[in-house]
Amino acid sequence: MSGCPYFQKRVLETNDEERDDSQEGTNKASKGGIIYREYLQLDKIVAAQSLQSELKGNKIHDEHLFIITHQAYELWFKQILWELDSVRDIFISGDVQNGRNMLKVTTRTHRIITIFRLLVDQFSILETMSASDFFDFRGYLVPASGFQSLQFRLLENKFGVPNERRVPYNRQHYRENFHGQEREMLLRSEQEPTLLRVVEQWLERTPGLEEKGFNFWGKLEANITEELKGGRQKLEMRPESEDKDEQMEDFIKQRDLFASLFDGQRHEDLMRKGERRLSYKALQGALMIYFYREEPRFQVPFQLLTSLMDIDALMSKWRYSHVCMVHRMIGSKMGTGGSSGYHYLRSTISDRYKVFVDLCNLANFLVPRHWVPKLNTTGDSVLSTTDTSCDSSYCSNSSEDSD
Ligand code: HEM
Repeated sequence: MSGCPYFQKRVLETNDEERDDSQEGTNKASKGGIIYREYLQLDKIVAAQSLQSELKGNKIHDEHLFIITHQAYELWFKQILWELDSVRDIFISGDVQNGRNMLKVTTRTHRIITIFRLLVDQFSILETMSASDFFDFRGYLVPASGFQSLQFRLLENKFGVPNERRVPYNRQHYRENFHGQEREMLLRSEQEPTLLRVVEQWLERTPGLEEKGFNFWGKLEANITEELKGGRQKLEMRPESEDKDEQMEDFIKQRDLFASLFDGQRHEDLMRKGERRLSYKALQGALMIYFYREEPRFQVPFQLLTSLMDIDALMSKWRYSHVCMVHRMIGSKMGTGGSSGYHYLRSTISDRYKVFVDLCNLANFLVPRHWVPKLNTTGDSVLSTTDTSCDSSYCSNSSEDSD
């Protein structure tokens, strides 16, 4: 405990008075301060484990672990929501152009990732309980289920899990499990700008996308078309062979892939089908950040995009670890919440629930470095870190940044 900074601060604050007044012991509370137990409201937290098995006169040892584990998860969900709300607020307020705020965004996003890693690992503690130990008290839990976790649903919604892509549960909408204030909170979380949407708007403002400026997209399309043309000519000049046929097939696939990238209409169709989530412009911004990630202006944005992919990956890992644990605890029996259990949960581990799936798919469009439009440090000052005309969120030349 002595390593805890809060505790150390309290010791420093109180030491003088308490040393003089040692007879009164920890009397700080009576002088208007606050002590550890009160500050953390431990009386409430530590008294919040009521074993249903004990209440029913058949105390089962492992139910205590089951409760503590769920409570620990819920507390961490709360912290993730806290960080997530603050990140969304920074984007919504438009304050992201302030370099300090961008640092807050990346730090807090990274914190979310660190918590998620812990949450994935934490299942192993619950797995020290055997299926038969769980069986001993499972009957007392009906109809309670993690499916009723409000915070988990808020978290999914605020990240941007699309409503229409959710796997229906007992042919019901997930919201049917919630009532009153909780239901309103969920509705609100579906309507508010999600992390996906705020990031999308920010990506749309990526400096260098302007057609009348650097025109990244136009230049990239021209370069790729030119390189593909040259590649095809070289290939056609080669003597006929099986190898040439195979290479031509690969070439045609690559050409079609890039044709789809530069086809705005195709993008809209894929968005309607739910196969792409970011707007066309935002996708261009993200690709630009990928290509120029080593430029000072794009280093932090690139870190953020990487973190967003990490969040998606960790959410999937969480779902996967949970479903593996459920399988070993209850086999393929129905869940206490009434779903098919393992089979329902298994169907939630798919791209349907991924929010930033477009960012992973960008790897499809990576090209050799020399195909990427060159930055002209004098002419294309839009990408320079010393550019003062830029009003976009990527500007890293505001007074705050130089601190
Ligand atoms: C022995 C341990 C566990 C078992 C057997 C179990 C079982 C299940 C089952 C069967 C479901 C599907 C809904 C239903 O019919 O009830 C479910 C959903 C869920 N559980 Fe667990 N669970 C366990 C531990 C946990 C823990 C520790 C958490 C942490 C908060 C958790 C959170 C959730 C959530 C959020 C859902 C909803 C998932 C979704 O619909 O995508 N579960 N659980």
